[in-house]
Amino acid sequence: MSAARIVIEGIALTQDYAVSGGMFAAKQTVRAVKGVDFAVEQGKTLAIVGESGSGKSTLARIIALIDAPSSGVLKVDGQPVDISRKRLTPAMRSKVQMVFQNPYGSLNPRQKVGDVLMEPLLINTSMPAAERREKAEAMLAKVGLAPEHFNRYPHMFSGGQRQRIAIARALMLNPALLVLDEPVSALDLSVQAQVLNLLADLQDEFNLTYVFISHDLSVVRYIADDVLVLSKGVAVEQGSREALFANPQHPYTQQLFAATPVTDVAAIRARVERRKAARVSM
Ligand SMILES: Nc1ncnc2c1ncn2[C@@H]1O[C@H](COP(=O)(O)OP(=O)(O)OP(=O)(O)O)[C@@H](O)[C@H]1O
Ligand SMILES: [Mg+2]
Repeated sequence: MSAARIVIEGIALTQDYAVSGGMFAAKQTVRAVKGVDFAVEQGKTLAIVGESGSGKSTLARIIALIDAPSSGVLKVDGQPVDISRKRLTPAMRSKVQMVFQNPYGSLNPRQKVGDVLMEPLLINTSMPAAERREKAEAMLAKVGLAPEHFNRYPHMFSGGQRQRIAIARALMLNPALLVLDEPVSALDLSVQAQVLNLLADLQDEFNLTYVFISHDLSVVRYIADDVLVLSKGVAVEQGSREALFANPQHPYTQQLFAATPVTDVAAIRARVERRKAARVSM
């Protein structure tokens, strides 16, 4: 086997927001992310956890090439990217896709599901219409939806189905990396498990790399290979899931773990482990 490829790497990433200090006060700066380093190998999942306001979404938006960091370097496939100078090639941009917590907010209610899926191909490729349709239909099946869903509108679907549509759309340009910001937090527990299973299957099939934001440690325990713990914008702890759950080092991590009930997901986890083991031995 060749050396693992680092798909996404952050070096000293920092994000400042300018906020109004009030009617007569000067502008102030909030440093939401403070010098965060991380690297994720192809096919792996890095979970980012932390309290509300700790900077998870801010970091996610940097990693997803939506916002430029105030300072620091983001590398995709080993190449530094700079979205602020608009030097991103379409090929580079399509490598990274984002899935949000609320798929309804990110799906156009007037667009049929088939069009939602074909749109990225229409905009970014010169693929002929028949091929676009074929690829969209295939992706619909991959995420567990039926052929007749192609001509339906987003409001005709359940929350879990809508998240499947958002995932399918994110995969249309064959990305290397998905940034998922609380992708199952709005779903019922049983539906959460289904969508997490789907994400695990897709990761295996396409060798996808995930950056998975969650405040739910039972979800993190199920999906993560490595975990990065954010506290007030600082990465206070990073390591393998096993090490972190077995022996959290930082007081903040201990506190976070103590405060969160972790439901039993051992069975599903074992399934993922078996699949990963099978993949490694291929
Ligand atoms: N656009 C913005 N302008 C100013 N401040 C912001 C902006 N976005 C986020 N912040 C601030 O940056 C900090 C981090 O916010 P962020 O949304 O990244 O946290 P989070 O960890 O995703 O929280 P949650 O779990 O609630 O989603 C917070 O203090 C927030 O108020
Ligand atoms: Mg957030």
